[in-house]
Formats: sequence, structure tokens, C-alpha cells
Amino acid sequence: MAAKTWAAVDDYLNELIVRPDAALAAATAASKVAGLPEIAVSAPQGKLLNLLARMMGARRILEIGVLGGYSTIWLARALPPEGRLISLEYKQKHAEVARANLAQAGLADVAEVRVGAGVDLLPTLTGPFDFFFIDADKEGYPDYFRGCLKLARPGSVMVFDNVVRDGKVIDAATSDTAVEGARQLHAAIAAEPRVSATSIQTVGSKGYDGFCMAIVNR
Ligand code: SAH
Ligand code: DHB
Ligand code: MG
Repeated sequence: MAAKTWAAVDDYLNELIVRPDAALAAATAASKVAGLPEIAVSAPQGKLLNLLARMMGARRILEIGVLGGYSTIWLARALPPEGRLISLEYKQKHAEVARANLAQAGLADVAEVRVGAGVDLLPTLTGPFDFFFIDADKEGYPDYFRGCLKLARPGSVMVFDNVVRDGKVIDAATSDTAVEGARQLHAAIAAEPRVSATSIQTVGSKGYDGFCMAIVNR
């Protein structure tokens, strides 16, 4: 099946049921104008994050890797009125673009972007968070898993983006450090009895990849 078909199906789904709105389109456009890489989650994937956060009643969300704030907007919209989101971002420029995009989406008071490396900022946070979306450097995923677990409670949910990478995740001899990060994440989860997890392979406008999802056991 061609990637062209996957993207066309995303278009069909977006128009009919995903329905990304003007604020999301504006965030995508502003991110492109600012020269950010076009690696945000797709609209159907953003909607999935939104639905998952709503399904589990998330009130506090932590994201690692804000880019232009596209996934952040989907996630922040899942929160109840008193809910809050924090997103950690290494690059000052990305943080500034994301803050502007969040403001134009009316979410400036809901979502806060903190600048720094994920591993440095995680220990400065106070938990518990209900929902985690991890989408920064893939090499950091095993550390982010351990760090987020410390900020979690029984029932907290973690979602990791980009864990299949065109199927390369099964290549034990890989020299791709991002793939190695996804492999080490799966190994860390396998060795951690406090969580139950799965990974789901995905296709769409962003190609062939996947999400890892874990829940902290009650
Ligand atoms: N979640 C975004 C996409 C994030 S892209 C979306 O779907 O819309 C990955 C982001 O992680 C980039 O902005 C990159 O600068 C940031 N990043 C990379 N290494 C990081 C690190 N060590 N700590 C925090 N952020 C990092
Ligand atoms: C890359 C990063 C992402 O978060 C993503 O969704 C796709 C690609 C990358 O660094 O190549
Ligand atoms: Mg990603």
C-alpha cells in the first residue's frame, strides 16, 4: 500500500471526523514560516492524543518535545477548565513559536512551555501527572520513561511517539540512535513490573511509525 494512499485516507478522515480547526491550521502554518521541521503528529494522531487524555480524565498533562505546539494544542484542549499542561522543550526558538501558537489558540493560560533539556527539567517537576506525551529526542526515551514514572501515580498513562520507525525497531544491529532509543524504551518497559504496555503500528500522512502506550498499574 502506497504512502500516497495513507495520506489520502488521513485527508478523508480529517474532513469527516477528525476536524482540525483554524487554530491548528494556523499553528502548522506559523511553524512552517518559522522554519521548524515538519515532524508534528498528524491531525488524526493529535486527535487520538486528545481522546486518550479525555478518556482517562487527565487534569495534569506533561509533554516532552513541544516543537510548534501542535500536539500541545490537541492535548491542552482535552483538559477540564482547571486542568494544566506543561511542555518541556530544549530549543528556545521552538518554545517561542509554540507559545505564540498556544496563545492564538486561546490556551496561553492552560499550557506552559519550559525551556531546557528533558532530563534536566524532569527532576524539577512535582507530580503526579495523569498523562504524559513523550516526543523529544528518541535517544532520551529510556530516561524519560524512568523520569516520568517518578512523576506518575497508579493509573497514569504514558504515550511515546515514533517507536516503530518504518519497522526498523526490530533491527537489533541498527546504527540509528533514534531506533536504538525506541528499542531501549521497549526493553525498559519489559523490565518494569509497575506498568502494562503495548505499541501500535501506524500509517498515515506521517508515514509508517507507531505509538507506545503504558499505564501505571493500580
Ligand atoms: N510534539 C510535537 C513534535 C515534537 S518534535 C508535535 O507533535 O507537535 C521534537 C521536539 O523535541 C523538538 O522541538 C526538539 O527541539 C525537542 N527536543 C529535542 N531534544 C530535546 C531534549 N533533550 N529535551 C527537550 N526537548 C528536546
Ligand atoms: C522525527 C521526530 C519526531 O518526533 C517525529 O514525529 C518524526 C520524526 C525526527 O526527528 O526525525
Ligand atoms: Mg514525534
